[in-house]
Amino acid sequence: MSSSNKVIVLFGICFTVLTFGIMLNYMGKMDSQMASFKRAVTIELNNYKVYFEVEKKRKLAELPHVDIPLPKEVVGPEEELERMWNYVYTMQYKCTTSKYLGGRPKEFMDGAYDLCVEPQFWERAQNPGYTCLMYSFGVGYDFSFDDEMARLGCEVHSFDPSMHYEDGMVRKSGVIFHKIGISTVDIEKDSNGWKMRTLKTLLKELGHSGKYLDYLKVDTDAPEGGFEDAIMQELLDTGLHQCVRQYAMEIHIAGPLNMPKKLERMRKIHKQMTDLNSHGWRLYNTTDNVRSMLKHNPNANQLMNKKTIVKDQRMIFWETAFVNLEVKGPCSV
Ligand SMILES: *[C@@H]1O[C@H](CO)[C@@H](O)[C@H](O)[C@H]1NC(C)=O
Repeated sequence: MSSSNKVIVLFGICFTVLTFGIMLNYMGKMDSQMASFKRAVTIELNNYKVYFEVEKKRKLAELPHVDIPLPKEVVGPEEELERMWNYVYTMQYKCTTSKYLGGRPKEFMDGAYDLCVEPQFWERAQNPGYTCLMYSFGVGYDFSFDDEMARLGCEVHSFDPSMHYEDGMVRKSGVIFHKIGISTVDIEKDSNGWKMRTLKTLLKELGHSGKYLDYLKVDTDAPEGGFEDAIMQELLDTGLHQCVRQYAMEIHIAGPLNMPKKLERMRKIHKQMTDLNSHGWRLYNTTDNVRSMLKHNPNANQLMNKKTIVKDQRMIFWETAFVNLEVKGPCSV
C-alpha cells in the first residue's frame, strides 16, 4: 500500500468509527427522549379523558331568556374560578347560522371569530346593500378576521397602538388601520407614547354617531390580562351596549388567582358579563385558546390551566362571542 492509500484507509476507519459513535450516542438520547415523551403523552391523555368527562356532563342551556344570577358572596379563588368556568361554558343562545372567519392556520387558527348571520343580528341578511360597521381593538399584525369582515361588506376600523404601521393606512380589503388604543380616558401620548381613546370619543371622531356597531371585537393583550374589562365597563356606563349588535372578546384571566388584585379582575369581568346579560346580551360561543401551549404540547387543554392558575402565574384565554337581543337604536354620542 502506498502511503497516500494508507492515509485514505485510516481516514475511512476514523470516519466509520466516528459515525457509528455518533449514531449510538444519538440512539441512546432518542431512547430516553422517547421514554419521557411517552410518559408525557400518557399524562396528557389522562388529563384529556378527565376533561372530556367533565365536558360531557356539562349542561348547555338551549335557548335565550336566561336569567344569570348576579355573583354571590365572594368565597375564594377556587369557587370564583368555578363560577367563571361555568359561565363561559354555558351557552345562553343558539345561533343557528354562524360563520367562523379569519384565523392563521400556522397559529392553530388564532385570530378566528364567530359571526352570527341570523337576520336579527346581521342586517345584510335582509338588506344586502347595507354597509355594516365594525370596530376591532387589538390586531397584533393579524388582520385575518378584519379582512374577512371587510370582504363581507363592512366598513372595518382596526385599532392597535402597538403596531409599527402608519395611522390611516388602508388595506387591500378596505380595512382602515388606526394607530390608537382603547382606554378609559383620551390621551395624546401615554407612557408608551401611544394615542389612546375611549369608545365614545372614537365614535364621535370617526363620525359614526347615528350608526350601529354591527360588530365589536376586543382582543387586547397586556401582561396582567387585557383591556376587555375597561371596554365592557364603558359600554355599561355609557349605555353604548344598546347599539352593539355583536360582540367578540378574548377573555384573559391572569393567575395566580390567590393574589387579591388578580382575583378582583376576574370577579369584575364576571360581573360585567352578567350585567350585560341583564341588558339582553347573550353568550353563544366560547372556544378555548390554548394555542400558545399547543406549540409545546399537542395535547394541551384548558383543564391543565384550571388546575394551576390559582397558585401559579398562568393565563387562561377564552374567545367568546355574544349577540345582543335588545338593540335599542344607533349609537348616539
Ligand atoms: C363555537 O364555534 C366553533 C367554530 O365555529 C365551533 O367549532 C364550536 O362548536 C362552537 N361552539 C359552540 C358551543 O357553539
